[in-house]
Amino acid sequence: MNLKGKRIVLGVTGGVAAFKAAYLARELQRAGATVQAVMTEAATHFVGTATFQALTGLPVYTDQWDTRIDNGMAHIELTRVADAVLIAPASADFIAKLAHGLCDDLLTTLCLARNCPLAVVPAMNREMWANPATQRNVAMLRDDGVAIFGPDSGDQACGETGEGRMLEAEQIAEAMDAFFVPKTLAGRRVLITAGPTFEPIDPVRGITNLSSGRMGFAIARACRRAGADVTLIAGPVSLPTPDGVVRIDVTTAEQMHRAVMTELDIARAVARMREGPVTAATRAANEAAAADYGASGAGARSAGARGAVGGFADGDGDPTSAGDDDPALAGEQAAAAVDYGASAASPKRGIDAFISVAAVADWRVANRSEQKLKKTDDGGAPALEFVQNPDILAEVARRPDAPYCVGFAAESEDLAANATAKRERKGVPLLVANIGHETFGRDENELLLIDAHGSRRLPRASKDALAAALATELAQRLRAR
Ligand SMILES: Cc1cc2nc3c(=O)[nH]c(=O)nc-3n(C[C@H](O)[C@H](O)[C@H](O)COP(=O)(O)O)c2cc1C
Repeated sequence: MNLKGKRIVLGVTGGVAAFKAAYLARELQRAGATVQAVMTEAATHFVGTATFQALTGLPVYTDQWDTRIDNGMAHIELTRVADAVLIAPASADFIAKLAHGLCDDLLTTLCLARNCPLAVVPAMNREMWANPATQRNVAMLRDDGVAIFGPDSGDQACGETGEGRMLEAEQIAEAMDAFFVPKTLAGRRVLITAGPTFEPIDPVRGITNLSSGRMGFAIARACRRAGADVTLIAGPVSLPTPDGVVRIDVTTAEQMHRAVMTELDIARAVARMREGPVTAATRAANEAAAADYGASGAGARSAGARGAVGGFADGDGDPTSAGDDDPALAGEQAAAAVDYGASAASPKRGIDAFISVAAVADWRVANRSEQKLKKTDDGGAPALEFVQNPDILAEVARRPDAPYCVGFAAESEDLAANATAKRERKGVPLLVANIGHETFGRDENELLLIDAHGSRRLPRASKDALAAALATELAQRLRAR
């Protein structure tokens, strides 16, 4: 992981969430980082220095007049060997001081004098967070290039409920780890499908496959960590949404098809709108695309926990599935189309890459029953008829505005030959092949990358490691495009 060998100055300020910083110190160390704790005087009212000293194995500093540092300048020396300063929890007071460059204690002075990146994890009462002064201060920090992780929303120590809760220790450690990933996909927009589809036979039965969605979710996470804006269209799986990823849940192949095409249509419409003056024609096209989205039957959008990669995304991570043609989604999804325009990372163009990882059913049941099929006494079985589902990947690759398309092939034999034929059939520049029954549901995988020039094997590794390698590969290919 990226935290391995990193030296982190963990700044703890005066908030109730200070106890969580002890867990955070442990998480960072588990990931291979060395943690140097520095506390404000207020923080020591919540947790003792002994806790951090015991956990980190290093002396804890609280005072700029501390004589334990040889030259007496702890505010300089402590960051000169650090890879980053992480303030968790960051009180409203501390954020205000940082924004204005105040330095009246060790931690504020150290932040001002640092020569390494700074990340801040706010934690405070919801009214303190919502206060325009705090919002102004946070905006100033963002402008100064400071990463803001969170805050989360939920129950607060004071008994109120709302935004301002500190992220959990694991989330902060994950955000810090992502912080060190080179942002090779910054400014890129990536659309990914993942998981199986489910094709109903009757209201209670259906046909699906063994895809767990883990590879697609790992790729979504890796692309996000590399700085991309990621939308993940997921079949029926119960995996958590990767931090900062926008997720749309679908069930059937037809819904997945509509969701993919609608995402591409909206991205193109928004890109056109941004490119030039809005004419009546483009306005009509944009409105049609937004309306179409509402009628698409795609599931509701949701986003992974906020702010995990430099505080990009908002929303909670609970996926909500939705059925066919839910008109109630229209308003929300049309609004989501407008969101695209507001995304700071969105380039003027549409979607840069489409990665089709989902194991989409090739066929659906043509004579699906509206009622549950009953077993009969004569020993007979229902005669199911099938019809082919749309070929999502091939259709995306044929579009005039086709993004860079990456297909996945899950084969059971003759991997290279079958995957090479599939790449040509689908008309995509890159195909990633794996043996389906050896990877579905497992944490590890082995991949074969096939393009027009030949093939390259990515040896067996965790799906997270392979996903990170693929994100790097994608970034190189997009640059060379
Ligand atoms: C019991 C108690 C809980 C507090 N919790 C918070 C908190 O969660 N977030 C916050 O910003 N301030 C909180 N404060 C206020 C800060 O401790 C106060 O602003 C302090 O001056 C912060 O100092 P520092 O920024 O130097 O650490 C709390 C105060 C008390 C007495």
